[in-house]
Amino acid sequence: MCDAAGGADIPPWLVRMASMPPRSLDELRDELLAHGGCGFEPCETATQIVPGEGDETAQVMLVGEAPGRSEDEQGRPFVGRAGRLLDEVLVEAGLDRERVYITNVVKARPPGNRDPKAPEVAHWMPWLEAELAFVQPRLVVPLGRHALAHFATGITITAAHGRPITERGRTLFPLYHPAAALRSTALRQTMFEDARALRAAVAAL
Ligand code: URA
Repeated sequence: MCDAAGGADIPPWLVRMASMPPRSLDELRDELLAHGGCGFEPCETATQIVPGEGDETAQVMLVGEAPGRSEDEQGRPFVGRAGRLLDEVLVEAGLDRERVYITNVVKARPPGNRDPKAPEVAHWMPWLEAELAFVQPRLVVPLGRHALAHFATGITITAAHGRPITERGRTLFPLYHPAAALRSTALRQTMFEDARALRAAVAAL
């Protein structure tokens, strides 16, 4: 059978997802850890797949772009420099990392930390949607433009950050990506202001 990246046949992972959808987040995680053979470059070159983690009943779900080097090494989302900044932002927002759910749009590190390509994002969409369906968060926090693009079209992160918006029945509270805030003092300051606004939005849930 042809692979998903290049062929017209229905890829095996999609057949499995459709015919035997995971019944729990644990099953989803096992499936992710066994993922391979799809032909997409990040899935072939990553050290390991990085599933989401956190509270399965979280009210707030944070969604990043894709694992970086540290996440690829450790198999956990947001554990590198950007993750440490995210931890500070969570504290500012009054959120305990153990009480939220954190995942990425793309679950395998793109080589050289390049941006994920549109077909790679599309490839991972069923897993992200499955995570959303299991956790059923009341508030989704897309981190940066790539994550925002999954949830909302026609709005930039510059326009959308720091306030709740409703898209396709979901309440979103977009934030800048912590890696961007690491590169800019001004963005870092904005991110902490947004975190305080997030605290208010969570309190109002
Ligand atoms: N950047 C992301 O978007 N996700 C991670 O898990 C780490 C860095």
